[in-house]
Order: sequence, then structure tokens, then C-alpha cells
Amino acid sequence: MNLPEIPLDFDRARPAGVYNYYLDGKTWTAKDRETAEAVIQNAPEAREVAKENFLFAGRAASWVVTEFGIRQVFDVGVGLTDDVPLDSVETCVLQAAPDATVLAFDNDEVVLVHARALRRGYRRVLRGDITDLDSILNHPDLTSRPDLVGRIDLTKPIVIVLAAVLHFVDDAAAVMAQLRERLAPGSVVILSHATETGTSAKRVAGMTKAYERGNSSIIFRSVEEIAALADGWDLPSPGLVDVQLWSPDGSYAKEVHDSVRVLGMAAVLRSGPVPQPGGDRAAL
Ligand SMILES: C[S@@+](CC[C@H](N)C(=O)[O-])C[C@H]1O[C@@H](n2cnc3c(N)ncnc32)[C@H](O)[C@@H]1O
Repeated sequence: MNLPEIPLDFDRARPAGVYNYYLDGKTWTAKDRETAEAVIQNAPEAREVAKENFLFAGRAASWVVTEFGIRQVFDVGVGLTDDVPLDSVETCVLQAAPDATVLAFDNDEVVLVHARALRRGYRRVLRGDITDLDSILNHPDLTSRPDLVGRIDLTKPIVIVLAAVLHFVDDAAAVMAQLRERLAPGSVVILSHATETGTSAKRVAGMTKAYERGNSSIIFRSVEEIAALADGWDLPSPGLVDVQLWSPDGSYAKEVHDSVRVLGMAAVLRSGPVPQPGGDRAAL
């Protein structure tokens, strides 16, 4: 693993702290709060949508382990969620499948330091960057930690959760292409992403500017761009929809807001030849 050292920098907001503020946690700095409040000024429902995004990730992950029988789940970009009063991906998955192995990764040193300080043993967060898949799939802990040895088999399907992560990544399509190449067929990526579609340009510009105060810019992509991330993957029902509307049987339906929209999907990696981009996307 060859990730550069990232100094602890509390002078700028970080996505993990901003989200922790939205989610009613207590692990944020004054800078995180300033950015979050600037976003909320542009999108009054930002906190509500962030909570629905968090709930989507847990709901989708527990459905996937139940439906597909997958028992290895990597929550990448886990954030600062220990004090969040909502069920996390890990909690939801272990309720659905107590024999599952859930690992958390993040590329933010503050997230790692925080998790380490909590001395959470095997539940600690591992350093991994989704733009460098080796840092995750070849993480040394997978083969050296006694409690993990023999539990992760990358020749078999895994679940990768990318909740509200890829809108902080410049080349999200390259990440999905790498995942398509490296994961075993039948693997599932649970993904959520902020979209500009359906929201006024003024609000999108305001939120984008607010995140510029921090150490990571946010990229609002169009519905079409987010749908294209799943080229070569199957999207089980309901496909790509607002996170407030994602449930396989349509039973979960909360209010959607046009001030800020986050779309979610569970993308299943097909076996066999990958179709050409744009060939058969699920419609929104
Ligand atoms: C907006 S927070 C989302 C946290 C949580 N997944 C959720 O849905 O509430 C985004 C998280 O992704 C992490 N992140 C951003 N870019 C990343 C990357 N390239 N690789 C791994 N984690 C990343 C950030 O540090 C942050 O903790």
C-alpha cells in the first residue's frame, strides 16, 4: 500500500465532519459546521437528505446480504459515524446476517485517528482510497490480522458500499471501471451520489461553493452521468432513484426535495461480456 501521508489539518472542513454535523453527531469542528450551515442556507433540507442517504446505505446493504447471500461487506468512505443516532451499515448488515464480515475504510486521516482513539478492535477503520483499489483489496490487514485471516475471499462476490463518496471523486467512472475489472461477478456496489438534475442552478452553485471552503470539492453530476456509472452492471428494482424512494418492494417512500437530491442504486456485477456504454441503462 502506497498512500501518501495526510497531515491532520483542522483549518478546513472535511466531508466526514460536515456529514457528522448533518447527522446530529458531535464529531465536527467549527469549520465543518460553517460549511454545513452554508450548504443548509442553499438547501434547507440538506440534513434530512443526508439522514435518508445514511439510512439508504444500511437498508440497501442489509437487503443485498439477505437477497444475494454475500457475507463480505466493505463500507468505503465510512465517515465519522460512531456517535450518529441512526443504524449504520455495519449494524444493519449484522442484524440481517450476523455471520457477515463488515470492514470500514476511509482515506481521511482524521476518521482513522478517531476510530483508533475509540479502541474499537476489529471494527477499527482501515486506511483505503477508492481511487487506489489496491489500498483496499490488497490491504495488509486482510491477510495478516488473525481475526480476518480466512474471512475475506476476493474470488467470491463482495459488497462495496460507496454512500455519498463518489461525488468527492473527479473520475468516478474510472472507479466503477476498476471495480468492474477487479471484483468477482455477482459482487454488488451500493452507491449514492448528489445530482444537479431537478435542482436550481443557483442552489447547486451555492452548495458547490460552500464545499470549496473545505478540503474536498463536491461534484453534482446529472442523472445521466450517474446512471452511466452503472454501465455493465445490472440494477435490481427500483434502479437509480432518490435515496428516499429506494427499496426493492417499493415499501419505503419518504418525501423528496428539489432543493437537494441524492440518488441511490445497488449495482450488481454481471458475469459474461460487458455491454457497450449506454446500451441498456435502467431508466430513472
Ligand atoms: C460525505 S461522507 C459520507 C459518509 C458516509 N458514507 C455516509 O453516507 O454518511 C464521505 C466520506 O468519504 C470519504 N472519502 C472521500 N473520498 C474518498 C476516497 N477517495 N476514498 C475513500 N474515502 C473517501 C470522506 O473522508 C468521508 O468520510
